[in-house]
Order: sequence, then structure tokens, then C-alpha cells
Amino acid sequence: MKTFYVTTPIYYANSLPHLGHLYTTIVADCVTRYRRQRGYETFFLTGTDEHGINVQRAAARSGRTPKEHVDYIVGELKQNFAAFGLDGAHGGYDIFMRTTEPFHYEAVAEFWRRIAAAKTPKGREAIYKGRYEGWFCAPCATFKTEDEYTKPERAGDPPLCLIHEAPLDRVAEESYFFRLSDYGEALLALYESRPDFIRPDARRNEVVSFVNSGLQDLSVSRLKSSVSWAIPVPGDPEHTIYIWLDALSNYITALGWGSAEGERERGFDKFWPGTHLIGKDILRQHAIYWPAFLLAAGVEQPAAVIAHGTWLDHAGRKMSKTLGNSIELPTLRRHFSTDVVRYFSLREMVFGQDSKFGYESLVERANSDLASGLGNLSSRTLTMIGRYCDGLVPSPDIEEERRLQAKRAGVDADGQELANTLEHARDSFVQLFEDYAFQRALEVVWTVIARADKMISEAKPWELAKDESQRQTLNAVLYRAAETLRWLAVLLHPVMPDATRAIWTQLGQADDISQYDPAQLLWGGMQAGARIGEVAPVFPRIDKAKIMAEIEKENQAKESANIETPAPHSGTHATEADAVPGSTNAAGTKPEPPQRGATEADAVPQSQSGAPQSPSSAPEGVATFIGIEDFIKVEMRVGEILTAERILKSDKLLRFTIDLGEAAPRQILAGIAEYYEPETLIGRKVAVVSNLKPRKLRGFESQGMVLAASVGDEGRPVLATFAEDVPNGARLK
Ligand code: MSP
Repeated sequence: MKTFYVTTPIYYANSLPHLGHLYTTIVADCVTRYRRQRGYETFFLTGTDEHGINVQRAAARSGRTPKEHVDYIVGELKQNFAAFGLDGAHGGYDIFMRTTEPFHYEAVAEFWRRIAAAKTPKGREAIYKGRYEGWFCAPCATFKTEDEYTKPERAGDPPLCLIHEAPLDRVAEESYFFRLSDYGEALLALYESRPDFIRPDARRNEVVSFVNSGLQDLSVSRLKSSVSWAIPVPGDPEHTIYIWLDALSNYITALGWGSAEGERERGFDKFWPGTHLIGKDILRQHAIYWPAFLLAAGVEQPAAVIAHGTWLDHAGRKMSKTLGNSIELPTLRRHFSTDVVRYFSLREMVFGQDSKFGYESLVERANSDLASGLGNLSSRTLTMIGRYCDGLVPSPDIEEERRLQAKRAGVDADGQELANTLEHARDSFVQLFEDYAFQRALEVVWTVIARADKMISEAKPWELAKDESQRQTLNAVLYRAAETLRWLAVLLHPVMPDATRAIWTQLGQADDISQYDPAQLLWGGMQAGARIGEVAPVFPRIDKAKIMAEIEKENQAKESANIETPAPHSGTHATEADAVPGSTNAAGTKPEPPQRGATEADAVPQSQSGAPQSPSSAPEGVATFIGIEDFIKVEMRVGEILTAERILKSDKLLRFTIDLGEAAPRQILAGIAEYYEPETLIGRKVAVVSNLKPRKLRGFESQGMVLAASVGDEGRPVLATFAEDVPNGARLK
């Protein structure tokens, strides 16, 4: 049996999944289902990339150990993928690969040893020890060259990554290097001999010209003292393996390469080489580093590296967690069926190019293409078969003597014209789908829908039904419509498995639609006499105004849960603006129960409900006593405001980057925009609660809370500050 192995990138387990992650996984799922229909034995991998400084930091920020943190993210990711029908139980991925699996550790060590023992094409050692000095982007997990960052505005500040707009880390330490510079020619020969190795062509050209411009050796380890949450370098425990070397090798370790469990048992022999689906953001790693590592380790190259474009927000910026503009999967799922999201993803993005994502366009496309297009064709055809043919698929045959009559009604006698259209569409669809040109493949299918609609509108079955002598003409038209629908269901099955199954059942088809090979569809396969099932709309129309209002309301609710209205009394004012769930206001109204995401630390200032009641009574104006053991849970530090700006569409919030004396400054939001001009705050030293669980506000992650006094009836915030010079990061006790 032919086999097909497809992979998505393994996603960083530092933050919750979003549309970008969903997209590649949907594409891989569609491709897998398509290949299965075509008779391949398939293996579909997705999973998580769980090591590195970014995960280490995210875990520290959320007060978890790295392992607890990745387990939590993996749980969320799996749940989200299952909600979109992408897990094994719904016919989706075969393995959810995690780089914290013991078998992966063992195999990565073997991969390293193989490379370390190898000679480059120029006869030198593939790995050597040296010293690395440069800038590293933690969210990208990549070292950055000068053209990949913006220079800082203030001397002494770190530069910003062009992709994440996040400050880079300075790295200057001993490191192992992979001698990538010796592999340029071998890589070019690979691209030359396999024109389909990198797709689309634009990406291939990009890689070829990058390699042509000369490759530099690659730092492939970090000191354990800098990055401890990683796999140790075999034989040198002071160093840990670079996250990309660890992560890329998952594609083979998942199949048993290099581990005791064996390659045969886990499928390496059967399924490798695989096809890697990736976003263009990680092209270099997949099309240059990975093939070079494989060359060094003596492992066969992948079948292909297929790079898609990026989903952008309305302003044209890449959607990402770091930028805080991503589409959250639970919101998407709550309002749209999985098939609508799958269809939109494949239809809207020209594969390989960037595309904007918006809820409005999603609704518009769902209504025009699915409700009015495919859904309408399906329900009108089936309803007419129910009404005019007693629910039985009629015969397509028109006897000789009735043909002229049919022709007068505009219906050709043998239906050949429609059959030709479909056969042509089938061949184009198969070719385009195999070329990853999903958008065009779907366009082709929609020309068929338009063609069938036209046939029905012109033949007017409702008129034919009034004339008993046109019975055969009516039957032929309805058969053709039903047969077209059968083809459409088979072609579209990988893209919309649920909806096409529903159409299939309504057409009275009893066998499994996923067994039908689209390339083998033949006109006339539908059996006359089949009883159609119960007719129900497959794509109900979506009320755009209603759904947009609901989404807006949810976003507002999320925000008001996050944004504190200034409390009408004096006291400590938590200017993160989202803090203090469960706090009591001055009027002493009943406290709300702690909300999702509330931490003990959130609740400390002003809190009554969260804190344990002290047995001794508190002085007037003090809500309750807390013990020192409670106080020390709150970590407060001195921070210096490096940047301050207003946030679009928020009157209350300012967005800061604040230096807390850590490796990188933090982004912190504060609800003081009505009282402070951002420019006046730059350079100010402020008091920051630094161990508060990060929280999303207006799409931005706030990584702490700036403290201020809350003054007067309206609760005007006055920033807590220092009269003497204090170093950034100093702890308040
Ligand atoms: N962990 C690495 C991949 C290692 S693979 C051996 C990584 N992870 S990631 O979480 O950042 O995921 C990157 C991938 O997510 C992209 O390549 C793409 O597949 C998907 N996307 C994330 N954001 C995206 C968009 N805004 N648009 C489209 N897809 C993007 O990189």
C-alpha cells in the first residue's frame, strides 16, 4: 500500500494555541483525509515543542514548573484540537508528539552523536566548540542577524525582533557549533535535483538565494546555566541542545528513529520520508538546517517542505500571541461549525500567500458559498426529489420519443454536457489539491455548483411537474442534480467531513463516503430508486449582525472582567486595571466570587473575600489583617518605564515596557490613561507587582501590575514612586 506521512510544526508549549496553529493543523488534516480517500495509508503528526528559554520563562511567570506549564498547555491544545475534530477520535492526527517524551530524549541524543561523529562534505568535523556572541529572540528561538532586528531607540537598550517586536537577549557564551557553512553546495544540489522539495516556487527561490549568499555556522547548544529546560548535550552536561535541533528531529523520533523501541515498530521504515507543512516563518529551519542535519546524520531527506503564508489581523500584522492580536480558538469554535472554519481557511488563503482573517468575512463566506451555494443546492434538490418523486432518486433516462420535448424545455437528452463539466472539474480538482492549491481547487468546485444551479433554474422542475408528459424530463433533471451532489460530497469530503457526510446520508447513500476516491468518480454512479434520507439544512444561514454583536459583547465582558473601574475610595490603587477580582468596594457591597484566572496575588490589595480572615480585629480602614506569610507571596519590585503608549480603542489603558532588572523588559498595562500622558512617564521608577499571573487586556499580555495610590472620590491614581535613586529590580519588602 502507498503511504503518506504529513507533519505540522510542533507548536511551542509556552502559550495557548490560536488560529495560526489551528490553520496548519486543518490543512494537514484535509491533506490526510484526501490521501486516505485516494487509497494511501497515512500518518499525521502534530504536537508540541516543549523546551527552551521561552517555555522556561513562561512557566516562571505563571508560577509553575516548566513541566507543569507544558502539561497545562498541551491539555489546552489537545482540547482545542478535539473541539475542531482534529484529534484521533475524529479521524485526525495519529500522534501528538511531545519533545518531553523519554523516547525523544534518547533519540535526540543519538541524533547529536551521529552528527558529532560526522565529517562535513569538506572533510571537517560537523560539530565543534566555540564561543557565541549575538542577539537571540526567545519567541522565535533563533539567533538574529542585523537585518532581522530594529536598532534600539535609546543607546543601551536591546534591539527588537522584527517579527515579534520583542526585545532580544544578548548571548555571549561557550557553544557548540554545527558547521553549516560546509553544507551550502550539498544543499543546492539537493534543491536542484528535487525541484519539488521546497514549495511553492517563491519559497524555493528564497531559500536557494539565501544559501547562495553563503551560510554561517550555527550555534547548536546553550550553557545549561542559561537554558536548563532542554536536552543535555551527550557527554557534556554543562551544555544543552539547541531547541531547533531538538524540535526538528521529532519528525523522525516520533517514528522510532534512534530509540530502543525501534524503527519498524513505530513506523519509520514504513512512513519516512514525510511531508512537512509549515508556515513561511520557519522555512529556513526546515529547508536549510533540517536537511543539513539529516545529511550529517546520514538520514534520508524529507519528501517535501511546503510553506504556507501568514494570517494577518485587520491592520496587516502577523497574528501571534506575542503581539496579542490572535484569534482565540474557543471563541471561534463557539460561534462557527468546524466545517465552516475549515472551508474558510482553505478557500480564503491563497496557499503560500498572506491573508487577512476577520469574523465578518468568515460570516460572509459561510453565507454566500455554503448557505446560499452548496447548502441551497443540496436542500432544493432533495426537497424536490421528496416532493415530486416520493423521496426516491428518479431514473435519468429519457426515452427516444420524449427527447424532443425535453429539448424544448432546454434539457439535453443524455446529460452529457453536465457530465463533461464534472469530469473536467474532477481532474482539475485532484491536480490542484495535490499541488496544495486549495483555493483554486475549491473555486473549481464552486463553478460546478453554479452550473447545477443554472441547470435547475433553466429547467424549472416546478413547471415540469405540472405537465405529466414532461415526467421523464423532470426525473432526468433531478437525477442529474442528485448525481452532481454526490460528486460534490466526495470531492469536498476532506475539507468538510461533517457536512459532506450529512449530504451523503440525505442522498440515501449507506456506505462510507471516505472510501470514495475522488479521482475515480464516474458519472452515473448514483443508483436510481435509492430512498433519500430526512432533509435538513446543512449550513444554516448565519445572522451576521447577531453573531458580531455576540462576539463584541463577549470581548467586552472579558475586558470588563479585566478592567477595574476606579474604586470610589482612597487606598492602594491597583493600576494594572484588571486586578482585584473579589474585592469589596467602599460601600461594602457583597464581593463577587473570584473570577477565572484570579490568583491569590491578584486579590491581595483591598481584598476581603480571598484572604483568610484574621482572628484579631483590624483597625478602622483596614479590611482585615493578613499574616506575613501572605504578604511575602506578593513580590514587588522597582521598575523603570522604558516605553509608554496609549492603546487603540481604550481610553483607560496605557501600555508600558518596564525594566525590572531581568534579562528582558516586561510589557505591563495600567488603567491610568485618563490621568497621565504617556510621554511624561518614560524614565520614571515605579513599584511593580512582579509575580502576578499574566493577564490579557485588549489583546495585550500584561506581565505585572504597576502600583498607585487611589485618591479622592473618583479614585484618581497617583503612581507610587521613589524619592531616592533605586536600582531596577530591587525588591520591596
Ligand atoms: N516550535 C516551532 C516549530 C518547530 S517544528 C520542528 C514553532 N512553533 S510555533 O508555535 O511558533 O508555531 C509556528 C507555526 O504555527 C507556523 O509555522 C505556522 O504553522 C503556525 N502559525 C502561527 N502563527 C501563524 C499565523 N499568524 N498564520 C499562519 N500560521 C501561523 O515555530
